[in-house]
Amino acid sequence: MKTYFAQLEQAMAQTSSFDGQTAKIIHLTNAHGMTASFMDIGATWLSCTLPIEGQRREVLLRSPTMAEHMKQDAYFGAVVGRFANRIAKGQFAVDGKRYQVGINNGDNSLHGGVEGFDKKRWTVVERSANQVVFALHSQDGDQGYPGNLDVKVTYTLTDANELSIAYEAHTDQTCPVNLTNHAYFNLAGEASGAKSLDHMLQLNADYYLPTDAGLIPTGEQKPVLGTSFDFMQPKRIGEEFLTEPDQQTAGGYDHAFVFKPEVTDGISAAAVLIAPKEDVTMTVLTTKPAIQFYSGNFLAGTPGASKTYQLYDGLALETQYFPDGPNKPEWGLNNGVLSSGDCYQHQTVYQFEF
Ligand code: GLA
Repeated sequence: MKTYFAQLEQAMAQTSSFDGQTAKIIHLTNAHGMTASFMDIGATWLSCTLPIEGQRREVLLRSPTMAEHMKQDAYFGAVVGRFANRIAKGQFAVDGKRYQVGINNGDNSLHGGVEGFDKKRWTVVERSANQVVFALHSQDGDQGYPGNLDVKVTYTLTDANELSIAYEAHTDQTCPVNLTNHAYFNLAGEASGAKSLDHMLQLNADYYLPTDAGLIPTGEQKPVLGTSFDFMQPKRIGEEFLTEPDQQTAGGYDHAFVFKPEVTDGISAAAVLIAPKEDVTMTVLTTKPAIQFYSGNFLAGTPGASKTYQLYDGLALETQYFPDGPNKPEWGLNNGVLSSGDCYQHQTVYQFEF
């Protein structure tokens, strides 16, 4: 374990990050020999290892060095915000006032804009053997967003082999807030050569959000029933891959799936991911209304820990509010907008069985 941690530190904390200082790396361990490592840059979940058959299996994708981490646009393991996924043309209105935030993905704003929360240095405010708490102050006007926003993210590794992520935020002006973690999973192992498409997935979601060519939801909530987006029962991801125009537009799966409201209580299984050889199962429990299931369609050529990644070398399951929510008044749930005085509070748990 010690050697593994030392290698990780060597890779990510030898050279300086965005602000000229080196990253702070934090390791958590549990009673079963599972580990989870994090860094203060982006409050990033860097590594997750499971002890399987006497080996340490890394199930997260990441960059090989800090220098590469700073260049990638995969958002490996980072907390993304203020607004996860896309806002069309980076424009929205709150309280009758229009705002323009940074454009960094075609015509649109992605994951909080040019210098999103993934690129900021968070403060470690608390830590123990199984928990670390990161905080970030995002000042009024940061990336064009209104209000001073204070964010707290708590990662806990439990002895039930769960990695829990609790999110909290407050603002002094009404502002869109949609936080998630952008970890990429490969339950066969980061270096295994297995693909996202070889995994089995179940999503307790009966609607998905089709998108336009820029990956902005069209506004329609489409029933999954009878389509390749139906993951109500566990299905191999590759089984109906790219079979329909809604997938072809996105180069695969890169869509928000709307959970059945009854599974968003934080204790029900909202999503289940099963390793190709069925030796690892990851269950996702969450209080968030949707999940962006992204099959790794833009990974090709991105330097990774064990190799240069190719298409579909990992997949992301990002629990969140709907992309472009602030521009879709018909969707409800405050459209992903946090009022001043209210508290944004959510939790997502990734539970591993192996
Ligand atoms: C999200 C988006 C994808 C892609 C990745 C980052 O999952 O939905 O389209 O931009 O982030 O590479």
